[in-house]
Amino acid sequence: MVDDDNQSNMFERAEKLSNASESLGEGIVWGGAAPGDASVANAEAAASKPMVAIQSEGADQAERPAGPVGLDVGTTHIVAAQNKRNHIETVNQLNAFFTVPVSKFSRKILQSHDIMFFERNELFYIIGYSAESFANMFNTNTRRPIQEGLLSPSEKEGLSVVQAVVSTLINKPKRFGEVICFGIPGEPLDAPAAGALTYHEQVITMYLQNMGYTPVAINEGMATVLCELADDDYTGIGISMGGGMCNVCLSYLSFPVITFSVQMAGDYIDRMAGAATAEPATKVKVIKEAELDLAREPKGMVHTALHIYYDEVISKLLTSLQRVLASSDKLPKIAKPIPVILSGGTAMPRGCHNKVSRVLEKVNLPIEISEVRLAADPLYATSKGALIMAMTEAG
Ligand SMILES: Nc1ncnc2c1ncn2[C@@H]1O[C@H](COP(=O)(O)OP(=O)(O)OP(=O)(O)O)[C@@H](O)[C@H]1O
Ligand SMILES: [Mg+2]
Repeated sequence: MVDDDNQSNMFERAEKLSNASESLGEGIVWGGAAPGDASVANAEAAASKPMVAIQSEGADQAERPAGPVGLDVGTTHIVAAQNKRNHIETVNQLNAFFTVPVSKFSRKILQSHDIMFFERNELFYIIGYSAESFANMFNTNTRRPIQEGLLSPSEKEGLSVVQAVVSTLINKPKRFGEVICFGIPGEPLDAPAAGALTYHEQVITMYLQNMGYTPVAINEGMATVLCELADDDYTGIGISMGGGMCNVCLSYLSFPVITFSVQMAGDYIDRMAGAATAEPATKVKVIKEAELDLAREPKGMVHTALHIYYDEVISKLLTSLQRVLASSDKLPKIAKPIPVILSGGTAMPRGCHNKVSRVLEKVNLPIEISEVRLAADPLYATSKGALIMAMTEAG
């Protein structure tokens, strides 16, 4: 669940940050890095830069900026973030694929339309947003290399798909050994998949190493904290509510004290609301993303079902948080109430963070919460937080 060996390098890095600021003699102020620790100062400066998001199909690879990279390998999206002069640039791609039989004719058509694909075992694997267009055309669903946050054991070519999607977002580094920091989930609370998290982390590490990077893993909730809680001395609870899971990290002065995940998030809501209303999950997802307002009474079956399953996910998430905190012997003594910061696409509907806040009031946490807020760019907080860590490491 927490503080295992996988987290140890994270602790070392956090220590580096804390040492840098302690030398100023005024507690942890990451921005106030020790003289000479330029990488920490640069990373902190990057944290306040605006973000510019680009969809991969439109991104010109030759134009990709150099330097450290933040990478979010999510169930739904893969996002890469890099630092440019005045902003953080993110490029994203759908983490999905669709297969069609190989034929000379279709190869030519795919190539002439700049559709990204690779060939394996007599099949073309169409990847990213193009896969979604194909799936819609065939009135079916895309397939996913990552399920509920972790590489899916049932998709034999899953890793190849992830690699192909990543290669649409980042080039080989201009400088060999450049740092890339990538997000990994916390251990799932209810169904610890023995070894699955280690496998997930290690195969991504190996792939990025082969590309010429120095990979460093960061917990996804911790990345949210690094992105959003600079003004709170990196003390608070980061929760990333994504497609496959909700990832939670309690950070104390930039130390990831407790991390865990719950394998219920956007996909679960789509699937369950779809089953309850006899609508395809893909259609429910479109309605959810375009229309859902959790601050209003729902109208119609689909919206009612979406509210019901959002309530279930939020309740499961917060009762799990209560359970984990209450049973932990690692809780730091924190003098003042701490913020909860929400990121990820599932946290985006209007009213979501207020709902979380209301439910949280009824849950008896052993730590006092000051407020619940939404990240400035919920879909990009993980990649930006990972970039901040990568910039710190690169120094
Ligand atoms: N505006 C929106 N309203 C509601 N849900 C949204 C919105 N935009 C995206 N989502 C949902 O957010 C989820 C994807 O979020 P995100 O990209 O943060 O996940 P991920 O990082 O790929 O997955 P994970 O972290 O679980 O591995 C999907 O379920 C999607 O339907
Ligand atoms: Mg995510």
